[in-house]
Amino acid sequence: FKKISVGKNDKGLKLYDPGYLNTAPVRSTISYIDGDEGILRYRGYPIEELAQKSTYMEVAYLISKLIHVSVVYGNLPSENQLLDWEFAVSQHSAVPQGVLDIIHSMPHDAHPMGVLVNAMSALSVHHPDANPALRGLDVYNSKQVRDKQIARIIGKITTIAAAIYLRMAGRPPVLPSNQLSYTENFLYMLDSLGNRSYKPNPRLSRALDIIFILHAEHEMNCSTSAVRHLASSGVDVYTAVAGAVGALYGPLHGGANEAVLKMLSEIGTVDKIPEFIDGVKAKKRKLSGFGHRVYKNYDPRAKVLKRLAEEVFSIVGRDPLIEVAVALEKVALSDEFFIRRKLYPNVDFYSGLIYRAMGFPPEYFTILFAIPRMAGYLAHWRESLDDPDTKIMRPQQVYVGEWLRHYAPIKERT
Ligand code: ACO
Repeated sequence: FKKISVGKNDKGLKLYDPGYLNTAPVRSTISYIDGDEGILRYRGYPIEELAQKSTYMEVAYLISKLIHVSVVYGNLPSENQLLDWEFAVSQHSAVPQGVLDIIHSMPHDAHPMGVLVNAMSALSVHHPDANPALRGLDVYNSKQVRDKQIARIIGKITTIAAAIYLRMAGRPPVLPSNQLSYTENFLYMLDSLGNRSYKPNPRLSRALDIIFILHAEHEMNCSTSAVRHLASSGVDVYTAVAGAVGALYGPLHGGANEAVLKMLSEIGTVDKIPEFIDGVKAKKRKLSGFGHRVYKNYDPRAKVLKRLAEEVFSIVGRDPLIEVAVALEKVALSDEFFIRRKLYPNVDFYSGLIYRAMGFPPEYFTILFAIPRMAGYLAHWRESLDDPDTKIMRPQQVYVGEWLRHYAPIKERT
């Protein structure tokens, strides 16, 4: 792992690789993608199988490699392990008042993702295990502390997300319930108005659970790389995931689900699609929810979501924009512009329609991506800490600026 250089004045091998198209800075055991074949696996399990048979809690356990004494890591949990894990997550679901105060101090029209970035980073000052004074000490590095931090963040993210939602809706906060499953509790906090006997529709909470499974992990995407990048400096986990949430916010990444819904609403009806596609081909705008750095085939998550959308519509009623989405996909997939560039629907293309049908406002969609992705962020954070090859991430640049200039006093400058 030394810099490759062959002589005294040789600054070493450098690859100019904008956007890291060809650079793999880590080795990982968490997820596998074959973008040409449209394959995604979490620790070897096909995403379709997990979406059909598993739950988000099981998948979060599988991915974030929760450590139980003398248990092999990175497996699906046994019944008892799952119970312990769910208990740990629900025990950590309360959020410090100071973090809730931050959420409530934001401007009323603040974007929910901007608020989430602030709330996540505020966790770092509310938890003593993030204290830099402890770095290097056993208490800071112990696996038990890391386990607790993982359960804490997965436990708190839904409560924080619910507080953001309720504030947007002008409704009072609702405390989490530890009698419900992970997604049921989340929907309960959003919709119960504090009625403790409220139970969300089980088919809708299962649909959300499937969406959470699909979004849990996706190797070195922009925001997960951000977690690894921040963590490589030794910063605490709360600050590292807050940085990742910031990266996820962007419209080319997690923010695309919101952009898709806006785009479909803008198109409005199927007859407007050709004009819209002409604009995309003329490079006036992008087709949101299409294209992917890794998938050069149909995103396997989008396939599951397309089917799931129909299931959700059968419960809450059909969204007319689904006709626009399906027709838009059909036109794009048969157009030479998209075929040549291997542009297919990605995970964000159908998820927004499901969220809208479930009653979420578009500005909130990316929060629904951030919640489940915590499991992936935390898995990468832990993997990076356990990897003896981890180094502070410090890419190089190719300098193309002025070579050498000398300072001129201000009056002598031309
Ligand atoms: N609409 C129209 N053209 C596109 C699109 C699109 N959605 N995506 C890529 N292209 C075109 C580019 O203009 C480029 O064309 P060119 O060869 O004529 O210059 C070519 O396809 C290659 O695209 P790149 O931007 O080089 O691909 P890259 O891998 O860098 O970007 C990205 C991937 C950012 C996802 C891109 O496809 C995009 O912007 N998509 C729309 C936003 C989106 O849906 N993002 C969510 C991705 S999934 C996720 O992050 C969860």
